[in-house]
Amino acid sequence: MQHVFPLAYSASPLSTVDEPSIPTVNNGNDSPSHVILFYVNGRRYQLPSPPPTLLLAAFLRDTLRLTGTKIGCGEGGCGACTVMLGSYDRRTEKVTFQAINACLRPICSMDGFAIWTVEGLTKAGGEVTPEGEHVHPIQSRLVAAGGTQCGFCTPGWCMAMYGLVSQRQQEGAEGGTEGGLRKEEVERAFAGNLCRCTGYRPILEAFKSLAEGEGVKEGGKERGKGEGEDEEDEEEGWVKVDCSMGRGEGGALVDLEDMCTSLPPSLPPSLPSPPPRRIPNSTGTGGSSTSEAAVQAVLNACDILLARLQPFLSPPDPPPSSPPTWSAAVQAAAAEGVNLAAEGWFAPPTDRGAPFDYFVYCSAFSEVELDLLTGEVTIAASTIVYDAGRSLNPQVDIGQIEGAFVQGLGYYLTEEVEFDPEGRLLTNGTWHYKPPGVNDIPLHFDVSLLPPLSAAVEAGTREQRRSRTKVEKVGQGEEKKEKEGLILSSKATGEPPFMLASSAYFGVVAAIREGKREWGQGGECTSGETLAKEVPLAISATIKKRIEAIDVPVEAFVL
Ligand code: FES
Ligand code: FES
Repeated sequence: MQHVFPLAYSASPLSTVDEPSIPTVNNGNDSPSHVILFYVNGRRYQLPSPPPTLLLAAFLRDTLRLTGTKIGCGEGGCGACTVMLGSYDRRTEKVTFQAINACLRPICSMDGFAIWTVEGLTKAGGEVTPEGEHVHPIQSRLVAAGGTQCGFCTPGWCMAMYGLVSQRQQEGAEGGTEGGLRKEEVERAFAGNLCRCTGYRPILEAFKSLAEGEGVKEGGKERGKGEGEDEEDEEEGWVKVDCSMGRGEGGALVDLEDMCTSLPPSLPPSLPSPPPRRIPNSTGTGGSSTSEAAVQAVLNACDILLARLQPFLSPPDPPPSSPPTWSAAVQAAAAEGVNLAAEGWFAPPTDRGAPFDYFVYCSAFSEVELDLLTGEVTIAASTIVYDAGRSLNPQVDIGQIEGAFVQGLGYYLTEEVEFDPEGRLLTNGTWHYKPPGVNDIPLHFDVSLLPPLSAAVEAGTREQRRSRTKVEKVGQGEEKKEKEGLILSSKATGEPPFMLASSAYFGVVAAIREGKREWGQGGECTSGETLAKEVPLAISATIKKRIEAIDVPVEAFVL
């Protein structure tokens, strides 16, 4: 019953196997038992007579409290529960690794296997963050590329990649080669993992870089900022805005100097670093407003601090010959016992009827290829140009745009919602409802942000950029509210780009029209309206609807 795995090479996950006293997990069943024995993250467990219905995912989460393994669909369709399985074949004396769905595997089928979860991956990691946390290179690459937003899918992706890398390393060790992984393999390997946030591109980019030993381009720095801006930002000092919800808003960074417009120029503020505190959200996250609401709360906190510091920045009597430096003012305030910590609070206006009355501008171009016989669509390229104003964090904004676009692809092309005559939802699982997967995204996917305004123009409009709702009393108990500007010139990126995926839908419609023309159906098309009449294709334009719209004549199938 007891398999001892050979330590094939030092980097092998098998090297984490130890021989502690064997924990016995009590199943509360006193009947004669068949004991199964297996490893989890290098630790050996024995389990007498496990119930045949007990699944590995539930055992890991509920019994071992290894809750990094998530359960999404529970039916093998999303990959959230992915763990790595190691097995040893006595006959061939070979070790193999593979990623499996823990939601589908009964624990009683685990006898003699070794299982690794994301907790084991973290322990196996050779990198240590500045906060002292151990991470595996797979995880740090994913973070650097912006490949995680809400994070629910992330352990599954990491373990799927770990399974792939471990197997290649094992094969390399057995064959005396380096056991490398090619980018093309990475592209094909993750069809079983879904992500609803990122749009997949950064995940693939991170894993491909790992496959070929390249560095990772950090999305925000590479794609959203001008040369030299990083260094400048470092000098100016940053404030991290932390939110508890949403598709990535928590990473929004804002420039302190920009917020505290009356700080002395060119003096980097020296901020003490108390442990971060969390305050409840002032409103639900949604409507692409979370980042800006959080930043507005930071602005409000900065206003409080500036008001407290004002007597030290501009001492009244007698006025000094030169204004005190920022650090001198802060030190003087601290010596006087001034509270230098402040909590900001912002609740968005609740005007009914016009909750989001500002506009974003963006455009998308998509090139699609349609197989007229099967109805299958390949999106060859999508190019998006987006006006995010002055982006609070380009990496987050680009991630939001890509994620929203790919969600839109699902809405326009695959995610059909069906109900039975009694109103019961029929498309209630991954076998019937089809969100886009990693192979459905554009082969070439390029998102760029319009460059922000020049520094001179920005300086001139700084005050207008500070968003406030000006409230004026205009009568007994009456108030007039007026919106002023945007938060630091930023513009929302969370949900508006969803609609840009219509570019792919219209590409499909145009391709169907061209196909019909080949068969002598349809005439010249002059406008979008004519196109819609000529090719009625309801949304979601699923493969079934596409085939019906193409209406292939039977002769087309004759060779
Ligand atoms: S929870 Fe296992 S595949 Fe979705
Ligand atoms: S980050 Fe993938 S589902 Fe949210």
